[in-house]
Amino acid sequence: MTERPSGDELRTLMNAGSAALTFNAPMSQHRASDLIHTLASWNASDIVDFGCGRGSFATTIAAAIDSAHVVGIDNVAEFIHEADADSAATFDVADASTWSGPCDIAISIGSSHAFGGPVSMLDRFADLGARNAIVGDGFWMAEPDEWCVEIFGDMPAGLEAVQVGAQEQGWEVLDLDKSSIEEWDTFESGWRKGIRDIGTDSAGMLADEREAEYARYRGVLGFSWLCARRADEMTI
Ligand SMILES: C[S@@+](CC[C@H](N)C(=O)[O-])C[C@H]1O[C@@H](n2cnc3c(N)ncnc32)[C@H](O)[C@@H]1O
Repeated sequence: MTERPSGDELRTLMNAGSAALTFNAPMSQHRASDLIHTLASWNASDIVDFGCGRGSFATTIAAAIDSAHVVGIDNVAEFIHEADADSAATFDVADASTWSGPCDIAISIGSSHAFGGPVSMLDRFADLGARNAIVGDGFWMAEPDEWCVEIFGDMPAGLEAVQVGAQEQGWEVLDLDKSSIEEWDTFESGWRKGIRDIGTDSAGMLADEREAEYARYRGVLGFSWLCARRADEMTI
């Protein structure tokens, strides 16, 4: 009988899942283009992508906005080493929660846990002097059952809670959206395919397990997209 993978084997398989994706989040190319359009309109010189993974978004931003200095940060050295060597962005292996440096715009896509959650993350962005932020993060788009809460933890219930949470930390919400179910389905199936392509029994087992789990959180776990600016920047 195949044993459920664990330890290094599990990490290798999970990495194969994320390596098969352009973005390790439910994020379409169309959304990435829209976000870059927004970023360009903010005329920033220093853009930092916290928890950038293999750096695809940072690389895309740097290619699209010549005037910006784009930094991607991740604490997994293997991901940073896999970032595009020809990228116009620069990459750093660092802990996002303690990194400091010039930062007009802070980006976090699926990385708020690195800061201990969205509240402390938005506070940290303010401390760094960021005047704008783009945050992609989990929220409940339908009532979660006990299993979902156990697996994913506490999260804002609904987009309105995301908005109020940002406002309470002194951010003005410029735009708020959520990933579509198509973005979710594409993300999940791409991740599973990356694992299945390994071809081992344990890879198949992990992909099957994730497929069964997705059936439980599909349409319940949401992913919000927040574009915000510091409230004290409103008159600028
Ligand atoms: C869900 S992935 C998202 C990756 C990327 N933002 C994307 O959209 O493709 C979360 C990333 O956060 C990184 N991460 C987690 N904790 C971190 C920390 N303390 N400092 C830096 N990066 C961290 C992980 O290594 C991972 O690459």
